[in-house]
Amino acid sequence: MSEHDRHAAAEAALGTAAVARARIGTEASQQASRAWWDADADDYHRTHGDFLGADSDAGEFVWCPEGLHEGDVHLLGEVAGRRVLEIGCGSAPCARWLAGQGAEAVGLDLSGGMLARGLAAMERGGPQVPLIQAGAEFLPFADAGFDLACSAFGGVPFVADSARVMREVARVLRPGGRWVFSVNHPMRWIFPDDPGPAGLVATMPYFDRTPYVEVDAAGTPTYVEHHRTIGDRVRELVAAGLVVDDIVEPDWPEWLDREWGQWSPLRGQLFPGTAIFCSHKPR
Ligand SMILES: C[S@@+](CC[C@H](N)C(=O)[O-])C[C@H]1O[C@@H](n2cnc3c(N)ncnc32)[C@H](O)[C@@H]1O
Repeated sequence: MSEHDRHAAAEAALGTAAVARARIGTEASQQASRAWWDADADDYHRTHGDFLGADSDAGEFVWCPEGLHEGDVHLLGEVAGRRVLEIGCGSAPCARWLAGQGAEAVGLDLSGGMLARGLAAMERGGPQVPLIQAGAEFLPFADAGFDLACSAFGGVPFVADSARVMREVARVLRPGGRWVFSVNHPMRWIFPDDPGPAGLVATMPYFDRTPYVEVDAAGTPTYVEHHRTIGDRVRELVAAGLVVDDIVEPDWPEWLDREWGQWSPLRGQLFPGTAIFCSHKPR
């Protein structure tokens, strides 16, 4: 099944008719993302569920299509006994895995369809975590209530106001707490969303932040992604009062011959597909 076919059910349900590049704010982005992830939840899990451990009782914490596992890289540091917020948790395999390591984890996501998959997994057994339906730009939590915050491609690439997400995370973290999130590597923006040779030829300006939007026949957004450059992401973290500790650009591992959307061994051997921003709130 091609990547295009993989999204056929969601595109048919939402009436996706065209691709546009258009300014789009928080509310319209949230509406599009909620509808998209609700409609695509089953296909997302059919295609990536095994790789992510999403349907397993214990969950797994895979940061990115390159397969980097938190159990190997420990980007969050010690998690046992820590209160951890996962943003854009989907079916919460990461939050469930963290709970299995002794963390007190909470998962937040915009999409009821994605969260329902997490509830179904927890009904079958394994660690239980509270799941909250909300958008990443307005976190429904008190100040300084979390020791750690994390996100694996959840929310951050899809929000109109990612600077606000950084401020919100800084607010809910206690001093000394870490915030680590993975997103599409910003340099991927310049290439077509294609895992094959066509995806090796730059066609878009890196500096053009105009969002990628799919629309239905009436022009209503059905899917949205917001681009930020590496510098934008660093500036947003710093402006929120956070300290940038690292930007991890995972190598494409030799053992991995799997494609995931625009991710493929062909592209992964030439340039990074993921950037993981590691930061902390000063004491
Ligand atoms: C690529 S999936 C990643 C899910 C999960 N982290 C994983 O690794 O499987 C992106 C997730 O971000 C969520 N999302 C999109 N926009 C969001 C927003 N504004 N606030 C919170 N979550 C959002 C989607 O509902 C979806 O579950």
